[in-house]
Amino acid sequence: MAPSPYVAPVASSTAVFRDDIFKGKVLFCTGGGSGIGKGMTETVMRHGASAVIIGRNLERLTAASQELSQKTGEVCIPAQADVRKPESLRDAVKKAIERFGRIDFVICGAAGNFLAPISGLSENAFRTVIEIDTIGTYNTVKATLPHIRASKGSYIHISATLHYQGTPYQAHVSSAKAAVDALSRVIAMEEGPHGVRSNVLAPGYTMGTEGLSKLYPKGKNPNDDEKMARPLGRYTEIQDVANATVFLFSDAALYITGQIIPIDGSVVGSSLVP
Ligand code: HXC
Repeated sequence: MAPSPYVAPVASSTAVFRDDIFKGKVLFCTGGGSGIGKGMTETVMRHGASAVIIGRNLERLTAASQELSQKTGEVCIPAQADVRKPESLRDAVKKAIERFGRIDFVICGAAGNFLAPISGLSENAFRTVIEIDTIGTYNTVKATLPHIRASKGSYIHISATLHYQGTPYQAHVSSAKAAVDALSRVIAMEEGPHGVRSNVLAPGYTMGTEGLSKLYPKGKNPNDDEKMARPLGRYTEIQDVANATVFLFSDAALYITGQIIPIDGSVVGSSLVP
């Protein structure tokens, strides 16, 4: 099959959902200072939510929270924490509750990645990514769960599509994200009776992110690569992931839990160019 002549437009969720659907709600987003997490936070705020963004670099977080507040007219505050350290996450949750009194939505977005063959992947390198992606997700859920139960809220975990097939040089991230997928399903089963939902968004190569710059040859665009052709004609934009986030947190998705939704404009693992 030839590459697609069609290129899907990138719509904004504000053209589809009312801009006040999250009024009074509070988002807690790890990895919210940059990339996909920042884009998800901005879009959720555009629908009326306040937000707390969590990351290791306070300077970057502070700048991002000011930018998000300014762009959306809602309140965003930074909370410095390393998802590998449960006590620092508990402090971030405390800060969120002191400021807003509640948490309704959690995005587990903090992640780490680099390309490395397993033969060159040290024990510490493998462990580091498992600690950030998998244990960081567990720590975030543990720290926020009482508040998410109280609000009958919802989790979104950021996974990837790499581990739905074999992706070379990604043993660490593939293992870590497979565990995140599994963890989300268990949370959905155990916490559903408490009114809590848990879902996974699995972005493909996402334009303009640190992840893409690490995984794809520097300065190149996968949309220009015939071998990478997608049926919908382009690679993932941050806004695509943000739009799905609004849907999953909204009342339109109140009966959806334990699901993994790839946001990659294709059928995972398929290729248009043989
Ligand atoms: C081999 C590497 C390496 C590399 C680091 N290490 N980079 N090994 N190749 N390129 C090894 C180090 O040598 C060390 O092992 C161990 O990993 C820990 O490295 P540190 O630098 O001490 O860890 P830390 O400072 O905590 O940094 C974590 C990190 C870093 C993951 C290495 O890159 C990071 O913080 N990244 C956050 C941002 C990020 O990566 N975002 C992209 C997410 S994309 P030794 O043995 O020497 O001690 C994503 C999926 C995208 O999640 C999927 C798209 C389809």
